[in-house]
Amino acid sequence: MSTTGSSAATPTAAAKVPAAPLALERVQLTIGDDGMAVLRLGRADEGMVTLTVERIAELDAACDRLLSHEALGDGSLRAVIVTGPDPTAAPGADARRPGAAMFCAGADVNLIREVTDPQDGEAAAVRGRSVFEKLRRLRAPVIAAIEGPCLGGGLELALFCDLRVVADAPGTQLGLPEVKLGIVPGFGGTQNLTRLIGLPKALDLILNGKLLRPKQALRSGVIDRLVPRSKLLTAAREEALKLAGDGRKAPPRRLRGQAFWLSRTPLRALAVRAARKALAKGQARFYPAPGEALRCCLAALTMPVAQGFAVEAKALGAMIATDVSKALVHLFFLTERQKRLGKQDGARDVQRAFVLGGGVMGAGIAGLLAQKGTATRLCDVAMAPLQRAKQRLQATLDKQTKRRRMERHEAQAVQDRFAVSTEAGSLRDTDLWLEAVVEDLAVKQKVMQDAVARGLPDDALLATNTSSLSVTAMQQGVPHPERVIGVHFFNPPEKMPLVEVIRGRDTDDAAVATACRLAVRLGKFPVVVRDSAGFLVNRCLAPYVNEAARLLLEGSSPESIDAAMLDFGMPMGPCRLLDEIGFDVAAKVSEVMHGAFPERMQPCELFAAMVEAKALGQKSGGGLFGANGKGDGPGRAVLAALRRSRGTPARQASRSELLQRLVYPLVDEAFRCLDEGLVEHEHDLDLGLVMGIGFPPFTGGITRFARREGLATIVARLDELARGLGTRFRPCDGLRRRAIDG
Ligand SMILES: NC(=O)c1ccc[n+]([C@@H]2O[C@H](COP(=O)([O-])OP(=O)(O)OC[C@H]3O[C@@H](n4cnc5c(N)ncnc54)[C@H](O)[C@@H]3O)[C@@H](O)[C@H]2O)c1
Repeated sequence: MSTTGSSAATPTAAAKVPAAPLALERVQLTIGDDGMAVLRLGRADEGMVTLTVERIAELDAACDRLLSHEALGDGSLRAVIVTGPDPTAAPGADARRPGAAMFCAGADVNLIREVTDPQDGEAAAVRGRSVFEKLRRLRAPVIAAIEGPCLGGGLELALFCDLRVVADAPGTQLGLPEVKLGIVPGFGGTQNLTRLIGLPKALDLILNGKLLRPKQALRSGVIDRLVPRSKLLTAAREEALKLAGDGRKAPPRRLRGQAFWLSRTPLRALAVRAARKALAKGQARFYPAPGEALRCCLAALTMPVAQGFAVEAKALGAMIATDVSKALVHLFFLTERQKRLGKQDGARDVQRAFVLGGGVMGAGIAGLLAQKGTATRLCDVAMAPLQRAKQRLQATLDKQTKRRRMERHEAQAVQDRFAVSTEAGSLRDTDLWLEAVVEDLAVKQKVMQDAVARGLPDDALLATNTSSLSVTAMQQGVPHPERVIGVHFFNPPEKMPLVEVIRGRDTDDAAVATACRLAVRLGKFPVVVRDSAGFLVNRCLAPYVNEAARLLLEGSSPESIDAAMLDFGMPMGPCRLLDEIGFDVAAKVSEVMHGAFPERMQPCELFAAMVEAKALGQKSGGGLFGANGKGDGPGRAVLAALRRSRGTPARQASRSELLQRLVYPLVDEAFRCLDEGLVEHEHDLDLGLVMGIGFPPFTGGITRFARREGLATIVARLDELARGLGTRFRPCDGLRRRAIDG
């Protein structure tokens, strides 16, 4: 057996290798006496395999070695298996519990960040793809043996192999998520995948950046065989020998049925039209990469192979240099930064949770905990919400099993971890106690005292999901106040990606670390915020919705206000948002905010008027819009009456006025939060508001948006608005200072 890489070559096989041994550090190539080569994409001790410039160079050298070995013509290379690092061979690895497996997570995102010239991007695409193409040039069959993440460039490499054999393991995922970083797959992915599985499925995967679990990948035709993880290499070997025995490379694969008709005949125009329509809708229109990817996929079916590859490389070059890609890459690094918060010293694991209050939030949070492996008890004073909570979880699980994202036995295990009761009982065996009862300080203080009386351990996290009350106030009188913390989920908790971790006056670092770890385990991004009215998200949202209400009173239509914000890139306009959260909640929150910031946050009178008229929004059968969100709601009459009582003629604000009055104060409020120490870094503002209120991701976050817009421009306009419309617009000193400093 000859080995290039970290282990030494044996004399027998070394004699067959034509050139001097390769000194490879990142990939490992072993050629057995039986002619079976194994190319490992990373060293055994590498937990993360990405395609860096160095790794691609070593892959190139390894492929050259295989090609020259084959050129000997002595039949000593029969087949090649490409696979990830061997975690069982890592120094100190426990063979029974090896580290998580990994095939390849794709291109190094640092590289994507650094490329600013389209030509450099195109050259990088050509370079990577031409290395992978060498696997196709080999006469010997090449089998990808995949376990763990196989994403982006990793899957593109696997698509140059003749077959893909995959381990049916929980950590295995396959996909081409490049559009999420504002680029297109550039190493042949759009071409090879489209030809392999047909246009409709390829578009669905590539344009949406979808990731597939092994079974889904098998069904869609991306992979060829699924095996238990212990059999991965054996099965890959079997397939390799079968092809080698037949003297064949890739086995013939033909598109059939709909995949054939919508790919290989003029009927593909139907698939293209449907994809174009989806890309023109909603926020998709702000992202150029999916449109480019569509063009590339089409080229795979209409152009010669080399030309298709060239179109793809050019598209990658064009996309990688866009501001949108740079913004999305910036956000990617911010999400990685937040994930690391879950690994801080002192963070403990939550195994057993108790959630009090089974309403909208409590039910969602408890269900999520159970789904992510925590034994969870949900308790409420009434049985009805608990029954609804059980049904809600069942519906979620049914959906997951129907879409084959979960097996039936896994769904059953989740239900087994989820218990409901109207009796709290003993809390001795609890790591996390979290309340989601009514928003009332006295009630929250009382239930916390009760939890302590029921034997909650001193080191269990005592958490509140409050959206506006003081965590510090809840710490008063609670033994060990250092573990009292706010863990603020957003509605619906299953979907919303942000969790504000609220540090009260006495909260200690271990509690913050544990809450962050919990949030990350639940698939959320934690942002640590100091205890202050509205925390970060609701504080920034308050002036935004308040101003929308004032614009309504002045005469702007809900449709025009919402359209301006949708055109800015928000996922929903403020008027529809008010209907969704309810005018009662808006009124309550705005009172709290007014109490804390009387100068700037005086609530618009529309809130109280809507509450009085019981036009609360969707929960009451309609607000500004109808009950189902369509047409005019009963709140329009309330609005009309208020407008009449003002006695001033209605005035529809222009697009630019709407944008400046709604978005610039949001910028000002965000910088105030930073300067007051609510959050530590501008990054928290960027990520927090993208994840919390849907601030357009293509801007890269609010501080990047503000700098692009020009801080001086924003300050000047806010000053002007303050002179004309009131001091609420006056920019803070921090924003002024930054505008001067540039
Ligand atoms: N709804 C949202 O959008 C949202 C978002 C973030 C945070 N929050 C916060 O989450 C908390 C809960 O909000 P919600 O919308 O889920 O409320 P909800 O009214 O839907 O549910 C509250 C539940 O608590 C139960 N309850 C009341 N007092 C109780 C007690 N003493 N013991 C046990 N159960 C009790 C009620 O029966 C009800 O089922 C509030 O603090 C709210 O501010 C709400």
